[in-house]
Amino acid sequence: MENRRNNSQQASHPGGDTQFWQDERVQKYDYQQQLLSEKKEDVQANITRIVNYFCQLHSIGEPKILDVGCGPGTPMTLSSYILDRVPRSILVGVDSSEQMVEAAKGILVPKYGNRFSSFVSDFNSDSFWMPEIDSKYDFIVSSGTLHYLSDKRTLPFMKEIFNHIKDRGVFVSCMGSHPTIQEIAEMVHLFRVEFTYNQLEEEKRPREFPEFKKIFEETDRKANVNWRSSKDWLGAIQSAGFRKVDIVWHLWVRSIYLALA
Ligand SMILES: C[S@@+](CC[C@H](N)C(=O)[O-])C[C@H]1O[C@@H](n2cnc3c(N)ncnc32)[C@H](O)[C@@H]1O
Repeated sequence: MENRRNNSQQASHPGGDTQFWQDERVQKYDYQQQLLSEKKEDVQANITRIVNYFCQLHSIGEPKILDVGCGPGTPMTLSSYILDRVPRSILVGVDSSEQMVEAAKGILVPKYGNRFSSFVSDFNSDSFWMPEIDSKYDFIVSSGTLHYLSDKRTLPFMKEIFNHIKDRGVFVSCMGSHPTIQEIAEMVHLFRVEFTYNQLEEEKRPREFPEFKKIFEETDRKANVNWRSSKDWLGAIQSAGFRKVDIVWHLWVRSIYLALA
């Protein structure tokens, strides 16, 4: 698999390509996510369920939540799930794509008013925490996004997340991971490609699977996911200072991580 790295041989990963997330990827967001992201609705529902659980446990009436990489605010996005299902939540969305942020505003502000606001910022930049988002939150959440962190920004960003969470606050995020064992990584990668192939109607895909796999991998390379193991993710989150960190839900190539401040 060409997009996997041998850490000892290659330069550090620069993070995802932020230019990837525009035009068709904004306009057809939910349709494309349905094709690409297995059990996406379950991921969003589970993160939302975790937020509601801790709101009850800690008696938080108006949870303040930051959604990192919020996307376009369509029904499949985490922001939409949370605003819809966490009563009186105040959600701040942040995303590096101006088109995503504009789309999210267009959908979520008319529906939820001042419970939602959104800003453009790139977490691979040291100046991510612009004044509008530089605050303390009950929850920092993210779905399908943090695997675009660069190697250089991963540990600093995890610490910044920790520093922007209130005492007893919660960080919950679903991100991609690959097993460290090459043969197993190849297997889960194949499952991922097969999932999309099987989701597509026959007339919308090449007849032969190998041809489809080649096209899939070319597009995938453009997004430039920084694949790492779940152990590496746990280590990075732990090193930021969280009291407790664990994986609470797992799929072939992505997991939900829960960290308690
Ligand atoms: C797969 S989408 C996930 C969107 C949304 N969280 C959801 O639940 O569907 C990934 C999002 O991450 C954003 N993103 C990618 N790189 C980013 C970066 N460096 N800083 C902030 N956002 C980024 C993209 O613009 C895109 O909206």
